[in-house]
Amino acid sequence: MESKDKYELVSELARRRGFFWPALEIYGGVSGFICYGPLGVIMKEKIIKKFRDIFIRPLRALEIDSPVIMPEKVFEASGHLEHFKEPMVECLKCGRKFRADHLLEEAGVLDAEKLGLDEIMAELEARAIRCPECGGEFGKPSYFTTMFSTTIGPYSDAVGYGRPEAAQGIFVEFKRLYEQARKKLPFGVVQIGRALRNEISPRQGPIRLREFTIIDYEFFFDPEDPSCPRLPEVEDEVLRLLPKEVRLKGSEEPVEVTVREALDKGYIMMEWMAYFMALAKRFLEELGVPGDKQRFIEKLEWERAHYSVQGYDQEVWTDRWGWVEVSGHNYRTDYDLGRHMKWSGVDLTAFKEFKEPKKVMELVVKPNVEAIKEDFGEEAPEVLKALSKADKAELARSVEEEGSVKLGSYELSRKHMIISKVERTVKGKHFVPHVIEPSFGLDRLVYITLEYAYTVKDGRVVLRLPRDIAPVQVAVLPLLSRDGLPEKAREVYELLLSEGFDVEYDESGSIGRRYARCDEIGIPIAITVDHRTLEDGTVTLRDRDTWKQVRTPIKELPSLLYAFFKKRLEFDQLGKPL
Ligand code: GLY
Repeated sequence: MESKDKYELVSELARRRGFFWPALEIYGGVSGFICYGPLGVIMKEKIIKKFRDIFIRPLRALEIDSPVIMPEKVFEASGHLEHFKEPMVECLKCGRKFRADHLLEEAGVLDAEKLGLDEIMAELEARAIRCPECGGEFGKPSYFTTMFSTTIGPYSDAVGYGRPEAAQGIFVEFKRLYEQARKKLPFGVVQIGRALRNEISPRQGPIRLREFTIIDYEFFFDPEDPSCPRLPEVEDEVLRLLPKEVRLKGSEEPVEVTVREALDKGYIMMEWMAYFMALAKRFLEELGVPGDKQRFIEKLEWERAHYSVQGYDQEVWTDRWGWVEVSGHNYRTDYDLGRHMKWSGVDLTAFKEFKEPKKVMELVVKPNVEAIKEDFGEEAPEVLKALSKADKAELARSVEEEGSVKLGSYELSRKHMIISKVERTVKGKHFVPHVIEPSFGLDRLVYITLEYAYTVKDGRVVLRLPRDIAPVQVAVLPLLSRDGLPEKAREVYELLLSEGFDVEYDESGSIGRRYARCDEIGIPIAITVDHRTLEDGTVTLRDRDTWKQVRTPIKELPSLLYAFFKKRLEFDQLGKPL
Protein backbone atom coordinates (compact mmCIF):
# COMPACT_ATOMS: atom_id res chain seq x y z
CA MET A 1 0.00 0.00 0.00
CA GLU A 2 1.32 3.42 -0.91
CA SER A 3 1.99 5.45 2.21
CA LYS A 4 0.32 8.82 2.53
CA ASP A 5 2.43 11.94 2.64
CA LYS A 6 2.12 14.48 5.41
CA TYR A 7 -0.06 16.75 3.31
CA GLU A 8 -2.61 14.03 2.90
CA LEU A 9 -2.45 13.03 6.57
CA VAL A 10 -2.72 16.60 7.80
CA SER A 11 -5.54 17.41 5.37
CA GLU A 12 -7.51 14.37 6.49
CA LEU A 13 -7.03 15.29 10.13
CA ALA A 14 -7.89 18.93 9.44
CA ARG A 15 -11.12 17.86 7.73
CA ARG A 16 -12.12 15.23 10.30
CA ARG A 17 -11.41 17.36 13.35
CA GLY A 18 -12.56 20.71 12.03
CA PHE A 19 -9.45 22.75 11.38
CA PHE A 20 -10.27 23.40 7.71
CA TRP A 21 -11.68 21.68 4.65
CA PRO A 22 -12.30 22.41 0.97
CA ALA A 23 -15.18 24.92 0.81
CA LEU A 24 -18.46 24.40 -1.02
CA GLU A 25 -18.28 20.62 -1.00
CA ILE A 26 -22.05 20.23 -1.61
CA TYR A 27 -21.56 21.99 -4.95
CA GLY A 28 -18.56 19.92 -5.86
CA GLY A 29 -16.03 22.32 -4.32
CA VAL A 30 -14.25 25.23 -5.98
CA SER A 31 -10.45 25.09 -6.16
CA GLY A 32 -8.68 27.74 -4.21
CA PHE A 33 -11.29 28.24 -1.47
CA ILE A 34 -11.26 26.65 1.96
CA CYS A 35 -13.49 26.87 4.99
CA TYR A 36 -12.06 27.09 8.48
CA GLY A 37 -13.83 25.06 11.12
CA PRO A 38 -14.09 25.71 14.86
CA LEU A 39 -10.53 24.63 15.70
CA GLY A 40 -9.02 26.34 12.67
CA VAL A 41 -10.64 29.69 13.48
CA ILE A 42 -9.18 29.70 17.00
CA MET A 43 -5.79 28.53 15.79
CA LYS A 44 -5.69 31.33 13.22
CA GLU A 45 -6.51 33.84 15.94
CA LYS A 46 -3.69 32.51 18.08
CA ILE A 47 -1.18 32.74 15.25
CA ILE A 48 -2.28 36.34 14.73
CA LYS A 49 -1.83 37.00 18.44
CA LYS A 50 1.69 35.61 18.26
CA PHE A 51 2.39 37.82 15.25
CA ARG A 52 1.14 40.83 17.17
CA ASP A 53 3.33 39.96 20.15
CA ILE A 54 6.47 39.61 18.02
CA PHE A 55 6.00 42.20 15.30
CA ILE A 56 3.41 44.75 16.30
CA ARG A 57 3.43 45.41 20.03
CA PRO A 58 7.17 45.94 20.54
CA LEU A 59 7.24 48.51 17.73
CA ARG A 60 3.90 50.07 18.64
CA ALA A 61 2.89 49.59 15.01
CA LEU A 62 -0.59 50.71 13.95
CA GLU A 63 -3.17 48.24 12.73
CA ILE A 64 -5.92 49.10 10.28
CA ASP A 65 -8.84 47.41 8.58
CA SER A 66 -9.63 48.92 5.18
CA PRO A 67 -11.88 47.88 2.26
CA VAL A 68 -11.29 44.70 0.27
CA ILE A 69 -12.75 46.23 -2.89
CA MET A 70 -11.20 49.37 -4.27
CA PRO A 71 -11.66 51.35 -7.48
CA GLU A 72 -9.60 50.70 -10.57
CA LYS A 73 -7.60 53.88 -10.13
CA VAL A 74 -5.97 52.49 -6.98
CA PHE A 75 -4.60 49.52 -8.91
CA GLU A 76 -3.58 51.64 -11.88
CA ALA A 77 -1.56 53.72 -9.46
CA SER A 78 -0.16 50.71 -7.61
CA GLY A 79 1.00 49.10 -10.87
CA HIS A 80 -1.06 45.96 -10.29
CA LEU A 81 -3.23 46.46 -13.37
CA GLU A 82 -0.12 46.49 -15.50
CA HIS A 83 1.89 43.80 -13.73
CA PHE A 84 -0.46 41.47 -11.89
CA LYS A 85 -0.92 38.93 -14.64
CA GLU A 86 0.24 35.42 -15.40
CA PRO A 87 0.88 33.65 -18.70
CA MET A 88 -1.88 31.16 -19.45
CA VAL A 89 -2.45 28.46 -22.05
CA GLU A 90 -5.66 26.74 -22.99
CA CYS A 91 -5.92 23.15 -24.14
CA LEU A 92 -7.47 23.11 -27.60
CA LYS A 93 -9.08 19.72 -26.89
CA CYS A 94 -10.57 19.89 -23.38
CA GLY A 95 -10.52 23.66 -22.87
CA ARG A 96 -8.72 23.49 -19.52
CA LYS A 97 -6.44 26.41 -18.70
CA PHE A 98 -3.00 26.25 -17.11
CA ARG A 99 -0.23 28.54 -15.85
CA ALA A 100 2.16 28.35 -18.78
CA ASP A 101 5.29 29.06 -16.72
CA HIS A 102 4.38 26.28 -14.26
CA LEU A 103 3.97 23.78 -17.10
CA LEU A 104 7.40 24.75 -18.40
CA GLU A 105 8.99 24.50 -14.96
CA GLU A 106 7.51 21.04 -14.51
CA ALA A 107 9.08 20.14 -17.85
CA GLY A 108 12.49 21.28 -16.57
CA VAL A 109 12.68 24.81 -18.02
CA LEU A 110 14.73 27.01 -15.72
CA ASP A 111 13.55 30.54 -14.90
CA ALA A 112 10.33 30.14 -16.86
CA GLU A 113 9.01 33.27 -15.10
CA LYS A 114 11.46 35.26 -17.16
CA LEU A 115 9.99 34.31 -20.51
CA GLY A 116 7.70 36.41 -22.67
CA LEU A 117 4.70 34.93 -24.52
CA ASP A 118 6.60 34.15 -27.73
CA GLU A 119 9.37 32.40 -25.83
CA ILE A 120 6.80 30.40 -23.86
CA MET A 121 5.16 29.32 -27.11
CA ALA A 122 8.52 28.31 -28.54
CA GLU A 123 9.37 26.23 -25.44
CA LEU A 124 5.96 24.54 -25.43
CA GLU A 125 6.44 23.53 -29.03
CA ALA A 126 10.11 22.56 -28.71
CA ARG A 127 9.36 20.29 -25.77
CA ALA A 128 6.07 19.05 -27.23
CA ILE A 129 4.30 19.83 -23.98
CA ARG A 130 0.71 18.60 -23.96
CA CYS A 131 -2.27 19.06 -21.67
CA PRO A 132 -1.62 17.12 -18.44
CA GLU A 133 -5.34 16.25 -18.24
CA CYS A 134 -6.16 15.00 -21.75
CA GLY A 135 -2.94 15.09 -23.77
CA GLY A 136 -4.37 17.72 -26.13
CA GLU A 137 -2.38 20.46 -27.82
CA PHE A 138 -2.21 23.98 -26.46
CA GLY A 139 -3.20 27.19 -28.19
CA LYS A 140 -1.23 30.42 -28.04
CA PRO A 141 -0.38 31.65 -24.54
CA SER A 142 -1.93 34.90 -23.35
CA TYR A 143 -1.83 36.97 -20.20
CA PHE A 144 -4.55 36.61 -17.58
CA THR A 145 -5.07 39.36 -14.98
CA THR A 146 -5.18 37.61 -11.64
CA MET A 147 -7.22 40.27 -9.86
CA PHE A 148 -10.94 39.65 -9.41
CA SER A 149 -12.83 42.47 -11.10
CA THR A 150 -16.28 43.80 -10.35
CA THR A 151 -18.29 46.97 -10.76
CA ILE A 152 -18.98 49.23 -7.84
CA GLY A 153 -22.71 50.02 -7.86
CA PRO A 154 -24.83 49.66 -10.99
CA TYR A 155 -22.52 51.54 -13.35
CA SER A 156 -20.45 49.25 -15.49
CA ASP A 157 -17.77 51.90 -15.91
CA ALA A 158 -17.18 52.05 -12.14
CA VAL A 159 -14.75 49.17 -12.27
CA GLY A 160 -13.37 47.88 -9.00
CA TYR A 161 -11.06 45.06 -8.00
CA GLY A 162 -10.73 42.79 -5.03
CA ARG A 163 -7.41 43.72 -3.45
CA PRO A 164 -4.63 41.24 -4.24
CA GLU A 165 -2.71 42.51 -1.20
CA ALA A 166 -3.71 44.43 1.92
CA ALA A 167 -0.76 46.78 1.48
CA GLN A 168 -2.58 49.17 -0.89
CA GLY A 169 -5.17 49.90 1.80
CA ILE A 170 -2.31 51.18 3.94
CA PHE A 171 -0.72 53.30 1.23
CA VAL A 172 -3.98 54.98 0.23
CA GLU A 173 -4.67 55.88 3.87
CA PHE A 174 -1.12 57.08 4.53
CA LYS A 175 -2.09 60.70 5.09
CA ARG A 176 -4.25 59.90 8.11
CA LEU A 177 -1.90 57.21 9.37
CA TYR A 178 1.00 59.66 9.34
CA GLU A 179 -1.11 61.92 11.55
CA GLN A 180 -1.94 58.97 13.82
CA ALA A 181 1.79 58.34 14.11
CA ARG A 182 2.12 61.99 15.20
CA LYS A 183 4.02 62.76 12.04
CA LYS A 184 7.11 60.92 13.25
CA LEU A 185 9.08 58.36 11.28
CA PRO A 186 9.81 55.52 11.40
CA PHE A 187 6.51 53.79 12.02
CA GLY A 188 4.81 50.62 10.90
CA VAL A 189 1.26 49.94 9.80
CA VAL A 190 -0.18 46.46 9.61
CA GLN A 191 -3.25 45.15 7.91
CA ILE A 192 -4.43 41.58 8.45
CA GLY A 193 -7.29 40.70 6.17
CA ARG A 194 -8.65 38.90 3.18
CA ALA A 195 -6.99 39.26 -0.19
CA LEU A 196 -8.14 37.86 -3.52
CA ARG A 197 -6.16 36.45 -6.40
CA ASN A 198 -7.84 34.70 -9.26
CA GLU A 199 -5.18 31.99 -9.59
CA ILE A 200 -5.30 30.15 -12.91
CA SER A 201 -5.20 26.60 -11.60
CA PRO A 202 -4.66 26.32 -7.85
CA ARG A 203 -4.00 22.72 -6.90
CA GLN A 204 -2.23 22.92 -3.55
CA GLY A 205 -4.97 23.07 -0.92
CA PRO A 206 -4.30 25.80 1.64
CA ILE A 207 -0.96 26.69 0.03
CA ARG A 208 -2.40 28.42 -3.03
CA LEU A 209 -5.77 30.00 -2.47
CA ARG A 210 -7.92 32.39 -4.43
CA GLU A 211 -9.24 33.96 -1.25
CA PHE A 212 -6.77 34.08 1.60
CA THR A 213 -5.70 36.03 4.64
CA ILE A 214 -2.63 38.17 4.25
CA ILE A 215 -0.62 39.99 6.90
CA ASP A 216 0.91 43.03 5.25
CA TYR A 217 3.26 45.15 7.30
CA GLU A 218 4.38 48.44 5.76
CA PHE A 219 7.22 50.01 7.67
CA PHE A 220 7.80 53.66 6.72
CA PHE A 221 11.17 55.29 7.26
CA ASP A 222 13.29 58.22 6.18
CA PRO A 223 15.66 57.07 3.42
CA GLU A 224 18.28 59.50 4.73
CA ASP A 225 18.11 57.75 8.10
CA PRO A 226 17.64 54.06 7.32
CA SER A 227 19.26 52.72 10.49
CA CYS A 228 17.35 50.31 12.70
CA PRO A 229 17.95 51.07 16.38
CA ARG A 230 16.57 47.64 17.33
CA LEU A 231 19.22 45.77 15.35
CA PRO A 232 21.27 44.79 18.44
CA GLU A 233 18.30 42.63 19.54
CA VAL A 234 18.74 40.37 16.51
CA GLU A 235 22.22 40.94 15.08
CA ASP A 236 23.59 37.59 16.26
CA GLU A 237 20.65 35.62 14.88
CA VAL A 238 21.88 33.23 12.20
CA LEU A 239 19.98 33.31 8.92
CA ARG A 240 20.20 30.69 6.19
CA LEU A 241 20.34 32.84 3.08
CA LEU A 242 20.37 32.10 -0.61
CA PRO A 243 21.44 35.52 -1.89
CA LYS A 244 21.24 36.25 -5.59
CA GLU A 245 25.00 35.93 -6.11
CA VAL A 246 24.81 32.34 -4.82
CA ARG A 247 21.71 31.54 -6.86
CA LEU A 248 23.20 32.96 -10.05
CA LYS A 249 26.06 30.50 -9.67
CA GLY A 250 23.45 27.77 -9.81
CA SER A 251 23.88 26.82 -6.16
CA GLU A 252 21.07 25.83 -3.78
CA GLU A 253 23.43 25.76 -0.78
CA PRO A 254 22.47 28.50 1.66
CA VAL A 255 25.09 30.63 3.37
CA GLU A 256 24.70 30.75 7.13
CA VAL A 257 25.40 34.25 8.36
CA THR A 258 24.43 36.38 11.29
CA VAL A 259 22.16 39.32 10.63
CA ARG A 260 25.16 41.60 11.15
CA GLU A 261 27.25 39.67 8.60
CA ALA A 262 24.38 39.62 6.11
CA LEU A 263 24.33 43.41 6.24
CA ASP A 264 28.10 43.83 6.19
CA LYS A 265 28.47 41.52 3.21
CA GLY A 266 25.69 43.38 1.40
CA TYR A 267 23.38 40.35 1.14
CA ILE A 268 20.59 42.40 2.69
CA MET A 269 20.38 46.05 1.64
CA MET A 270 18.49 47.59 4.51
CA GLU A 271 18.80 47.16 8.27
CA TRP A 272 15.04 47.20 8.83
CA MET A 273 14.63 44.40 6.33
CA ALA A 274 17.26 42.29 8.10
CA TYR A 275 15.58 43.02 11.43
CA PHE A 276 12.18 41.82 10.20
CA MET A 277 13.71 38.73 8.57
CA ALA A 278 15.24 37.78 11.93
CA LEU A 279 11.87 38.26 13.62
CA ALA A 280 10.27 36.15 10.89
CA LYS A 281 12.70 33.33 11.61
CA ARG A 282 11.85 33.51 15.33
CA PHE A 283 8.14 33.67 14.56
CA LEU A 284 8.30 30.45 12.53
CA GLU A 285 10.35 28.78 15.26
CA GLU A 286 7.61 29.72 17.70
CA LEU A 287 5.15 27.99 15.36
CA GLY A 288 7.25 24.86 15.55
CA VAL A 289 9.50 25.11 12.48
CA PRO A 290 13.18 24.68 13.45
CA GLY A 291 15.75 27.05 11.97
CA ASP A 292 17.27 24.36 9.76
CA LYS A 293 13.92 23.84 8.03
CA GLN A 294 13.79 27.49 7.07
CA ARG A 295 15.68 29.55 4.54
CA PHE A 296 15.50 32.97 2.89
CA ILE A 297 15.87 33.02 -0.86
CA GLU A 298 16.57 36.24 -2.68
CA LYS A 299 14.35 36.94 -5.65
CA LEU A 300 16.17 37.47 -8.92
CA GLU A 301 15.38 40.56 -10.91
CA TRP A 302 12.72 38.94 -13.11
CA GLU A 303 11.11 37.18 -10.14
CA ARG A 304 10.67 40.31 -8.05
CA ALA A 305 7.37 42.13 -7.74
CA HIS A 306 7.21 45.34 -9.77
CA TYR A 307 7.52 47.52 -6.65
CA SER A 308 10.55 45.83 -5.17
CA VAL A 309 14.24 46.64 -5.47
CA GLN A 310 15.26 43.79 -3.17
CA GLY A 311 13.17 40.85 -2.07
CA TYR A 312 13.71 37.73 0.00
CA ASP A 313 11.15 34.95 0.40
CA GLN A 314 11.17 33.08 3.68
CA GLU A 315 10.67 29.42 2.81
CA VAL A 316 9.86 26.40 4.94
CA TRP A 317 10.51 22.79 4.03
CA THR A 318 7.33 20.78 3.44
CA ASP A 319 6.91 17.08 2.96
CA ARG A 320 5.03 17.23 -0.34
CA TRP A 321 6.15 20.43 -2.03
CA GLY A 322 9.66 20.94 -0.74
CA TRP A 323 10.43 24.61 -0.09
CA VAL A 324 7.30 26.73 0.22
CA GLU A 325 7.16 30.51 0.70
CA VAL A 326 5.56 31.64 3.95
CA SER A 327 6.58 35.28 3.91
CA GLY A 328 8.03 37.83 1.53
CA HIS A 329 10.35 40.67 2.56
CA ASN A 330 10.58 43.53 0.13
CA TYR A 331 12.20 46.90 -0.05
CA ARG A 332 9.41 48.84 -1.79
CA THR A 333 11.25 52.19 -1.67
CA ASP A 334 8.93 55.19 -2.24
CA TYR A 335 7.30 53.41 -5.18
CA ASP A 336 3.77 53.07 -3.82
CA LEU A 337 3.42 56.41 -2.05
CA GLY A 338 5.06 58.17 -4.98
CA ARG A 339 2.62 56.63 -7.44
CA HIS A 340 -0.47 57.30 -5.31
CA MET A 341 0.69 60.85 -4.88
CA LYS A 342 0.90 61.25 -8.63
CA TRP A 343 -2.40 59.50 -9.40
CA SER A 344 -4.44 61.15 -6.62
CA GLY A 345 -2.78 64.56 -6.75
CA VAL A 346 -2.64 64.48 -2.94
CA ASP A 347 0.52 65.25 -1.03
CA LEU A 348 1.70 62.06 0.70
CA THR A 349 5.05 63.34 1.84
CA ALA A 350 6.44 63.42 5.35
CA PHE A 351 8.15 66.47 6.74
CA LYS A 352 11.34 66.62 8.69
CA GLU A 353 12.77 69.57 10.48
CA PHE A 354 16.40 70.45 10.03
CA LYS A 355 18.44 70.58 13.23
CA GLU A 356 18.97 74.26 12.55
CA PRO A 357 16.73 76.30 10.23
CA LYS A 358 18.53 77.00 6.96
CA LYS A 359 18.74 80.23 5.03
CA VAL A 360 18.23 79.74 1.32
CA MET A 361 18.22 82.12 -1.57
CA GLU A 362 15.00 81.69 -3.47
CA LEU A 363 14.46 82.68 -7.04
CA VAL A 364 11.44 84.86 -7.67
CA VAL A 365 10.23 85.23 -11.25
CA LYS A 366 7.43 87.70 -11.83
CA PRO A 367 5.90 88.60 -15.17
CA ASN A 368 6.60 92.02 -16.59
CA VAL A 369 2.96 92.62 -17.45
CA GLU A 370 3.54 95.84 -19.38
CA ALA A 371 6.16 94.24 -21.62
CA ILE A 372 4.01 91.17 -22.22
CA LYS A 373 0.95 93.27 -23.13
CA GLU A 374 3.04 95.33 -25.48
CA ASP A 375 4.50 92.34 -27.31
CA PHE A 376 1.61 89.84 -27.17
CA GLY A 377 -1.44 92.12 -27.26
CA GLU A 378 -4.67 90.12 -26.92
CA GLU A 379 -2.78 86.95 -26.22
CA ALA A 380 -1.20 88.42 -23.09
CA PRO A 381 -3.57 86.57 -20.68
CA GLU A 382 -2.57 83.22 -22.23
CA VAL A 383 1.11 84.09 -21.93
CA LEU A 384 0.66 85.11 -18.28
CA LYS A 385 -1.09 81.81 -17.60
CA ALA A 386 1.69 79.81 -19.22
CA LEU A 387 4.26 81.76 -17.30
CA SER A 388 2.56 81.11 -13.96
CA LYS A 389 2.67 77.37 -14.60
CA ALA A 390 6.28 77.18 -15.77
CA ASP A 391 9.18 75.98 -13.64
CA LYS A 392 10.75 79.13 -12.25
CA ALA A 393 14.29 77.86 -12.07
CA GLU A 394 14.11 76.58 -15.63
CA LEU A 395 12.71 79.92 -16.85
CA ALA A 396 15.50 81.86 -15.21
CA ARG A 397 18.17 79.47 -16.49
CA SER A 398 16.84 79.56 -20.01
CA VAL A 399 16.59 83.33 -20.33
CA GLU A 400 19.95 83.88 -18.65
CA GLU A 401 21.82 81.31 -20.73
CA GLU A 402 19.93 81.22 -24.01
CA GLY A 403 18.40 84.69 -24.04
CA SER A 404 14.83 83.39 -24.42
CA VAL A 405 12.44 80.64 -23.44
CA LYS A 406 9.65 78.93 -25.35
CA LEU A 407 6.33 78.43 -23.58
CA GLY A 408 4.13 76.55 -26.04
CA SER A 409 4.01 78.76 -29.12
CA TYR A 410 5.19 81.88 -27.27
CA GLU A 411 8.78 82.94 -27.13
CA LEU A 412 9.64 85.11 -24.14
CA SER A 413 12.83 86.95 -23.44
CA ARG A 414 14.54 88.47 -20.40
CA LYS A 415 12.51 91.69 -20.64
CA HIS A 416 9.20 89.82 -20.12
CA MET A 417 10.22 88.80 -16.62
CA ILE A 418 11.40 90.42 -13.41
CA ILE A 419 13.86 88.00 -11.86
CA SER A 420 15.11 88.51 -8.34
CA LYS A 421 16.47 86.50 -5.44
CA VAL A 422 15.15 86.69 -1.89
CA GLU A 423 16.52 85.12 1.23
CA ARG A 424 14.16 82.73 3.01
CA THR A 425 14.45 80.67 6.18
CA VAL A 426 13.41 77.03 5.78
CA LYS A 427 12.76 74.84 8.78
CA GLY A 428 12.84 71.44 7.11
CA LYS A 429 11.95 69.48 4.04
CA HIS A 430 9.26 67.28 2.59
CA PHE A 431 10.10 63.81 1.31
CA VAL A 432 8.36 60.59 0.34
CA PRO A 433 9.02 57.92 2.98
CA HIS A 434 10.52 54.60 1.97
CA VAL A 435 9.00 51.25 2.89
CA ILE A 436 10.22 47.85 4.04
CA GLU A 437 7.49 45.25 3.84
CA PRO A 438 7.34 41.89 5.56
CA SER A 439 4.24 40.03 4.37
CA PHE A 440 2.88 36.67 5.53
CA GLY A 441 0.29 34.27 4.15
CA LEU A 442 -1.70 33.29 7.21
CA ASP A 443 -3.32 30.19 5.67
CA ARG A 444 0.09 28.78 4.85
CA LEU A 445 1.19 29.43 8.42
CA VAL A 446 -1.81 27.47 9.71
CA TYR A 447 -1.00 24.56 7.41
CA ILE A 448 2.74 24.59 8.13
CA THR A 449 2.10 24.71 11.89
CA LEU A 450 -0.12 21.65 11.58
CA GLU A 451 2.39 19.80 9.39
CA TYR A 452 5.23 20.41 11.85
CA ALA A 453 3.03 19.45 14.81
CA TYR A 454 1.89 16.18 13.22
CA THR A 455 3.63 13.23 14.89
CA VAL A 456 2.79 9.61 15.51
CA LYS A 457 3.48 7.99 18.91
CA ASP A 458 2.81 4.31 19.47
CA GLY A 459 0.68 4.24 16.35
CA ARG A 460 -1.42 7.22 17.48
CA VAL A 461 -1.48 10.75 16.12
CA VAL A 462 -0.17 13.35 18.52
CA LEU A 463 -0.50 16.91 17.27
CA ARG A 464 2.33 18.66 19.06
CA LEU A 465 1.09 22.18 18.54
CA PRO A 466 3.00 24.86 20.42
CA ARG A 467 1.08 25.29 23.67
CA ASP A 468 0.16 28.90 22.93
CA ILE A 469 -1.14 28.02 19.46
CA ALA A 470 -3.24 24.98 20.42
CA PRO A 471 -6.90 25.94 19.92
CA VAL A 472 -7.98 24.02 23.01
CA GLN A 473 -5.64 24.42 25.97
CA VAL A 474 -7.15 22.06 28.48
CA ALA A 475 -9.61 19.16 28.44
CA VAL A 476 -11.46 18.22 31.60
CA LEU A 477 -12.42 14.57 31.73
CA PRO A 478 -14.27 12.68 34.45
CA LEU A 479 -12.68 9.23 34.74
CA LEU A 480 -16.15 7.65 34.71
CA SER A 481 -19.56 9.04 33.85
CA ARG A 482 -20.98 8.16 37.27
CA ASP A 483 -20.26 8.32 41.04
CA GLY A 484 -20.51 12.13 41.06
CA LEU A 485 -17.37 12.46 38.89
CA PRO A 486 -19.10 14.30 36.00
CA GLU A 487 -20.52 16.87 38.45
CA LYS A 488 -17.10 17.52 39.99
CA ALA A 489 -15.46 17.63 36.56
CA ARG A 490 -18.02 20.22 35.41
CA GLU A 491 -17.08 22.36 38.40
CA VAL A 492 -13.41 22.23 37.34
CA TYR A 493 -14.43 22.97 33.75
CA GLU A 494 -16.52 26.00 34.82
CA LEU A 495 -13.69 27.26 37.02
CA LEU A 496 -11.17 27.16 34.16
CA LEU A 497 -13.66 28.62 31.73
CA SER A 498 -14.31 31.55 34.05
CA GLU A 499 -10.54 32.05 34.38
CA GLY A 500 -10.36 32.57 30.64
CA PHE A 501 -8.87 29.26 29.46
CA ASP A 502 -9.86 27.59 26.20
CA VAL A 503 -11.23 24.49 27.83
CA GLU A 504 -13.32 21.53 26.76
CA TYR A 505 -15.38 19.05 28.75
CA ASP A 506 -15.70 15.46 27.54
CA GLU A 507 -17.30 12.49 29.26
CA SER A 508 -18.11 10.27 26.28
CA GLY A 509 -16.30 6.97 25.73
CA SER A 510 -13.42 5.33 27.53
CA ILE A 511 -10.72 7.51 29.09
CA GLY A 512 -8.18 6.01 26.66
CA ARG A 513 -10.23 7.08 23.64
CA ARG A 514 -10.73 10.52 25.11
CA TYR A 515 -6.98 10.95 25.68
CA ALA A 516 -6.39 9.84 22.10
CA ARG A 517 -8.82 12.48 20.80
CA CYS A 518 -7.14 15.16 22.95
CA ASP A 519 -3.75 14.19 21.49
CA GLU A 520 -5.08 14.22 17.97
CA ILE A 521 -6.35 17.78 18.19
CA GLY A 522 -3.29 18.92 20.10
CA ILE A 523 -4.73 19.71 23.56
CA PRO A 524 -1.58 20.23 25.66
CA ILE A 525 -3.10 19.21 29.01
CA ALA A 526 -5.86 16.77 29.93
CA ILE A 527 -7.20 16.99 33.48
CA THR A 528 -8.83 13.91 34.90
CA VAL A 529 -11.27 13.94 37.80
CA ASP A 530 -11.31 10.62 39.67
CA HIS A 531 -12.53 9.24 42.97
CA ARG A 532 -9.60 10.72 44.85
CA THR A 533 -10.65 14.16 43.61
CA LEU A 534 -13.83 13.83 45.65
CA GLU A 535 -11.75 13.04 48.77
CA ASP A 536 -8.85 15.49 48.61
CA GLY A 537 -9.68 18.05 45.86
CA THR A 538 -6.75 17.05 43.63
CA VAL A 539 -6.82 16.08 39.94
CA THR A 540 -4.37 14.45 37.54
CA LEU A 541 -2.82 16.45 34.72
CA ARG A 542 -1.62 14.54 31.68
CA ASP A 543 0.99 15.90 29.28
CA ARG A 544 0.08 15.47 25.60
CA ASP A 545 3.65 14.97 24.40
CA THR A 546 5.16 12.66 27.03
CA TRP A 547 1.93 11.20 28.46
CA LYS A 548 3.42 11.81 31.90
CA GLN A 549 1.00 12.59 34.72
CA VAL A 550 1.17 14.80 37.83
CA ARG A 551 -1.32 15.44 40.62
CA THR A 552 -2.36 18.95 41.62
CA PRO A 553 -4.94 20.62 43.92
CA ILE A 554 -7.84 22.11 41.94
CA LYS A 555 -7.48 25.45 43.66
CA GLU A 556 -3.94 25.84 42.29
CA LEU A 557 -4.92 25.06 38.70
CA PRO A 558 -5.62 28.60 37.45
CA SER A 559 -2.29 30.09 38.47
CA LEU A 560 -0.27 27.01 37.47
CA LEU A 561 -1.93 26.70 34.09
CA TYR A 562 -1.58 30.43 33.49
CA ALA A 563 2.17 30.15 34.07
CA PHE A 564 2.39 27.00 31.92
CA PHE A 565 0.68 28.64 28.94
CA LYS A 566 2.88 31.70 29.35
CA LYS A 567 5.83 29.26 29.13
CA ARG A 568 7.00 30.21 32.62
CA LEU A 569 6.58 26.67 33.94
CA GLU A 570 7.18 23.28 32.35
CA PHE A 571 4.81 20.38 32.75
CA ASP A 572 6.86 18.65 35.46
CA GLN A 573 6.48 21.76 37.62
CA LEU A 574 2.69 21.58 37.65
CA GLY A 575 2.34 19.02 40.44
CA LYS A 576 3.60 15.85 42.07
CA PRO A 577 4.55 13.04 39.67
CA LEU A 578 2.32 10.00 39.77
N1 GLY B 1 1.95 42.61 -0.11
C1 GLY B 1 2.69 41.50 -0.41
C2 GLY B 1 2.29 40.74 -1.59
O1 GLY B 1 1.49 41.19 -2.36
O2 GLY B 1 2.77 39.66 -1.81
